Amino acid sequence: MQLPYFVLQKTTPYGRLGTLVTAHGNISTPCFFFCATKATIKGIDAQAMETLRTPVLLANTYHLMLHPGPNVIAQAGGLGAFMGWRGPTYTDSGGYQIFSLGYGCVSQEIKGSPRSERYLRISEKGAEFFSYRDGTKWCLTPELSIHVQQALGADCIFTLDECTPYHISYDQTRVAMERSHRWAQRSLSEFLREDAPYKKSYQGLYGISQGGIYPQLRRTSVEFLNATDFFGHGIGGSLGTTSKEMGEVLDMALEGLCLNRPIHLLGIGKIEDIFDGVMKGIDTFDCVIPTRLGRHGGALIMPHYWKSAQESYHARTSINLLKSCFRNDHRPIDESCLCPTCQRYTRAYLHHLMKSKEITGGACLTLHNVFFMNTMMAAIREGIAADSVAQVRTHWLGR
Ligand code: GUN
Ligand code: ZN
Repeated sequence: MQLPYFVLQKTTPYGRLGTLVTAHGNISTPCFFFCATKATIKGIDAQAMETLRTPVLLANTYHLMLHPGPNVIAQAGGLGAFMGWRGPTYTDSGGYQIFSLGYGCVSQEIKGSPRSERYLRISEKGAEFFSYRDGTKWCLTPELSIHVQQALGADCIFTLDECTPYHISYDQTRVAMERSHRWAQRSLSEFLREDAPYKKSYQGLYGISQGGIYPQLRRTSVEFLNATDFFGHGIGGSLGTTSKEMGEVLDMALEGLCLNRPIHLLGIGKIEDIFDGVMKGIDTFDCVIPTRLGRHGGALIMPHYWKSAQESYHARTSINLLKSCFRNDHRPIDESCLCPTCQRYTRAYLHHLMKSKEITGGACLTLHNVFFMNTMMAAIREGIAADSVAQVRTHWLGR
């Protein structure tokens, strides 16, 4: 059978169970993908990610194209081999990063850069920008994004798209979406070209829907995806500014979408958004939140944390170990957590590490958060299998 392929085991009104079969292993869905943007989970090596039973890593074309470059990674045997990771990998196309980092280029002083001006020009051809690293000029076209992603050799890859922000008008969103659709067509043609130098027989290509918060545009994007022969569907673009709005936009983006392909929600996220997404039928997610939160002192916690702290119920899913209330608190983050951090270290010690800016602190908290997410996603899958997702949600989220 042609890899990758997707098998649906169970579809319910509150989520679906599936398996993504890739050349580097099977992924049970719903699944959360951690962002190894520059071919690492910051502070955590691939071996540690493996011991935490992490299913998949997602890296970024934009960053790896700028450094170390696709040829280096291809010569290493691909992204997984390069970073010592044996499991499945995904790469995002670089679209989103150009738009977030490209626009932000000015504010980051680029030392010795020939250019420090803000510059990002989008044309039919592609996106022209200056590297955030050294100011060199690049043009990322849909074809180049495919070439780079073939060289990186992840199991699944995404088409180059333009992720438009929340505040822009219907017409601006429409123009960008229509161009993203044309880029997606070009991406697919390039992806299917037999003589591409780094063509991989085992890769799957996801198309990405756009259309921001506008129902008509989301409908058009659904029609486009259904009519085009992608392996999977990505849902991109602005999903609004609140969880409630995200739910509404997600309904628009899923309405009528062909359901036999895997559906990935890009850049989400928060615990409650993951539950909402799963319950609407999303199969996979990726987000920097759990790992970024850890580096900044945040530990994900379950509702029982607040009960044991004898605090009134708190609609929060994390605590910040930088807070002085943890200075002399000699308990683990969570007594019931089986992660390597909670097995060995106390809140007081983690507080000390974070306050002292020791990199071990961020690494320990990232370990806890990765374990938390992997355990939660396993519980979600068990919940769908046992028709008890609502109970799983209450257990992990308290609401
Ligand atoms: N990550 C978060 N949102 C997006 C998006 O719209 N497109 C891509 N390619 N990546 C994303
Ligand atoms: Zn823990």
